[in-house]
This record gives sequence, structure tokens and C-alpha cells, in this order.
Amino acid sequence: MSGFQRLDKVLANMGYGSRKDVKKMIKSGAVEVEDIVVLDPEMKIDPEVQSVKVNGRKVDYKKYIYLMLNKPKGVITATEDRRLRTVLDLIDEEYLRFIPSPVGRLDKDTEGLLLLTNDGMLNHNLTSPRKHVDKEYYAEILGKVGIKDIEAFNEGVVLDDGYKTMPAELKILEAAPVSKVIVKIKEGKFHQVKRMFEAVDKKVIYLKRLSMGNLKLDEGLRPGEYRELTNQEVEDLKSLI
Ligand code: URA
Repeated sequence: MSGFQRLDKVLANMGYGSRKDVKKMIKSGAVEVEDIVVLDPEMKIDPEVQSVKVNGRKVDYKKYIYLMLNKPKGVITATEDRRLRTVLDLIDEEYLRFIPSPVGRLDKDTEGLLLLTNDGMLNHNLTSPRKHVDKEYYAEILGKVGIKDIEAFNEGVVLDDGYKTMPAELKILEAAPVSKVIVKIKEGKFHQVKRMFEAVDKKVIYLKRLSMGNLKLDEGLRPGEYRELTNQEVEDLKSLI
């Protein structure tokens, strides 16, 4: 969605109706580009540079969309699936138009912060294994978590496939038969947190992502709810990479 595009396409993408509706609207004289009425739906414009008005009101053009979802259990981190509900099934059409993708993935049974965006560069940078963006999780663990586990995580643990993880921070909130902990990791290996606890003979029974880099889950969002990131949150994320 950048550079010169057809006027009807820009307006359809911004939610002013189907291409057909928009063409009709343009031909009726309702649309101005740089304060001049345009009757040609195929006119090429640069919406980032040129001002567009519909019925005298300025169109607030956006190229990128950034959404923070509190992912609920039971939906998969994918853009489509023939059988299972995906995180995109939770997003309204007004945002789907931007074709957002999940940034990284959470397991089907994991809850919490999932960023969705069509900003491919930011997505790539946040998930690049070379960038080591921190991911923080709240977890409930079957088994009493103790100092030995903190030390093991600090060292990095060896996963079932022989891979030794980078050092991770483990904070115990409650040590009990079902322990409550906060884990901070710098990587995003498949099922990483669950496999790290398996490596110390324990089992994750609940997992929720709290933050990614400097972006924190808005606790006002109930599972399944989402909101756009503020400009400040987008800037903060971009400053990370
Ligand atoms: N680690 C996991 O095991 N699962 C997730 O969903 C995220 C991190």
C-alpha cells in the first residue's frame, strides 16, 4: 500500500465501500484530491503525500496497522486454517483490509500479547533470531520451582533436541506444588518455555505472554480483545531495532 495507486483502490482500502461503490462515489463528484474534484476513479495518486477528501472531509490515510491482541486459548497463530480458528478470525474487517500478520507465534493453549502488523520490516526485525528481543511470560508450573531452576535457566538449559538455550531469567512468585513464575527469554524456539521447564523435569500448565521488547500487554484487554498500538508504542518498538 505505498507509492502511486488508483484513487478507487485507496478509498476502497480505507473502508469507503467496495471498488464499485467507490467508483460511483468518485463519479458523483464527492471526492477531491488536493482540493480539486476528481471524477476519474483510475487516477493515480500518492495517498501519503496528496490530500484526499470525501464529501469535504479529509481521509486519514494509514499505510501500516499495528494491533495488540490478548490472544485467548484455543485459537492458533496462523493467517488461515481450514479447521481451526485463527487469530485473524478475531480481527474486524476494517483492520483485515491491511492484511496484518502475527509477529512471532504463541501456541494454541498460550494466552497473552500477540502483535499483528502489515509492517513487514518491523515484523522481520522483532522476530529475527539475531535481534534477541526479550519476551516475558507468566507461567504456572506443575512442581515446586526452586533456586536450582533459576540457576539452570541463568546458565541456559539443554532442550530435548540438544540445543542449549541462551541464558533466561526466572523469577519465582510462588513456590508450591503448582508454582507461579515469570520467565524472560531472548529467543523464540518452538515451544521454548514449555521445553525449558521439561528440561528441569517440570511441566507448564498455564502460559501467558506479558511483553515483547518494550511493548507490554494492556491488561485492560480481555482474552480475544485487541486495540491499535499508540504512536508512542510503535515508536518505542521501532527504537528497539
Ligand atoms: N513458549 C512456549 O512454550 N509456548 C509459547 O506459546 C510461547 C513460548
